[in-house]
Amino acid sequence: MTKDKVLIFDTTLRDGEQSPGATMTHDEKLEIAELLDEMGVDIIEAGFPIASEGDFRAVSDIAARAKSSTICGLARANYKDIDRCWDAVKQAKSPRIHTFIGTSPLHRAIPNLTMDEMAERIHDTVTHARNLCDNVQWSPMDATRTEEDYLRRVVEIAIKAGATTINIPDTVGYTAPVESADLIRMLINEVPGADEVIFATHCHNDLGMATANSLAAVEGGARQIECTINGLGERAGNTALEEVVMALKVRGDIMPFETSIDTRKIMNISRRVATVSGFAVQFNKAIVGKNAFAHESGIHQDGMLKNRETFEVMKPEDVGLSGTSLPLGKHSGRAALRAKLTELGFDLADNQLNDVFVRFKDLADRKKEVFDDDLMALVTQNDAEDDRLKLKSLRVVCGTQGPQTADMVLEVDGADIATTATGDGPVDATFNAVKAIFTHRARLQLYQVSAVTEGTDAQATVTVRMEEEGRIATGQSADTDTVVASAKAYINALNRLLVRREQSEPGYDIKGVSYKDT
Ligand code: KIV
Ligand code: ZN
Repeated sequence: MTKDKVLIFDTTLRDGEQSPGATMTHDEKLEIAELLDEMGVDIIEAGFPIASEGDFRAVSDIAARAKSSTICGLARANYKDIDRCWDAVKQAKSPRIHTFIGTSPLHRAIPNLTMDEMAERIHDTVTHARNLCDNVQWSPMDATRTEEDYLRRVVEIAIKAGATTINIPDTVGYTAPVESADLIRMLINEVPGADEVIFATHCHNDLGMATANSLAAVEGGARQIECTINGLGERAGNTALEEVVMALKVRGDIMPFETSIDTRKIMNISRRVATVSGFAVQFNKAIVGKNAFAHESGIHQDGMLKNRETFEVMKPEDVGLSGTSLPLGKHSGRAALRAKLTELGFDLADNQLNDVFVRFKDLADRKKEVFDDDLMALVTQNDAEDDRLKLKSLRVVCGTQGPQTADMVLEVDGADIATTATGDGPVDATFNAVKAIFTHRARLQLYQVSAVTEGTDAQATVTVRMEEEGRIATGQSADTDTVVASAKAYINALNRLLVRREQSEPGYDIKGVSYKDT
């Protein structure tokens, strides 16, 4: 059976990064872009260049490094945004400008444009983008709540002005599968010139239908799906890349479409995005959740032993999970560690391997068996060389006889500072010690602990989200000692907030970019 190609457009670094608290550092963005490129993503939306110097630099560095993927930047419907976007993407082997404007009645009211004025703006800005770049994507934001007549009219204008991809966003996650397919089909059938462009679908997950809506749009004629790793994104997130790609692969007999994604790289990038964004993947999440291939009930286990297809529609190996997982222990050497890390998708330089080896030995001393998940947690620790705050030591006294006390040494800008603090429990005492050494006004928004593997010696992964004057940062860390993991996660979040504080010249924050300039 011949299969139609569906392009995968990943917007983890733009729409995904817009989720509150999911901000990534420059190096993390470059790393994720490299993983997306390696896994076969056709188009990477690397950021919103006008939003800040940081976003501009990330998009242009990603553009300069990309090997195969097209690199795209987002721009509102004005010349300044579009010029800035072009400056950021132009060094890519294959650059794309993505410009958008909200076309529904609610969104038209914000820049206070009449239908005719907006139509003229679309014509002018798409023409301008096309004069700079051969590859232009145009999106009518909130398309699914835009009057159909007007949608047909503006899509036709964008095509005539030179757009090569027309993206139809369900910005508020309002549509449903049948409508999603019908809308794309209607546009393809009724808009003059529609057969010369690619239609894309961009779905949000407010009603939990994003993946279903994206797949339905493909049935309706869309040939580009916009998505993010783990479904990261504002509010309930976006269509998850791993879900649409695996659905197309598993259901290939019924849905004759293919993508160029190497699905064996899914698990690794999912874990990496979870770590750098601080958004842990829920256990029962399709494809990438911890339980996605776990079988607990007797009937299921029995069925699996007889024939795995009884309770699995895909193999764990298809998404990069190794079928059999032999744990490493304290006698395992560097070669065994390297082999295991390669199997898990990590290609470390010698100095990185040395560093991980030291931490692996330390963990193996404390824990009898080191499982794949332990190693992943170890390798993806967030500590960075240039962090301003580093935990040097921590001793906590806790138990039934309070008050709980934390003795801490913290390195602040290169100088060691010691303190003792008390608190309502060991974690509270630890956080109070950090506050005593490094005074700050950030408020704790989320504190979450989960076990990486099983057993009382399991590593705990702790996620901490903090907020300071509207800026949000998330930190994460793993350790067999839950309090140490908590201290490191808290310090990690603070380090990220400090970076955000430095970057917070007016207009820095992508969430602070308004649509008034559209
Ligand atoms: O959801 C949306 O409408 C968007 C646009 C900018 C394409 O992300
Ligand atoms: Zn979106």
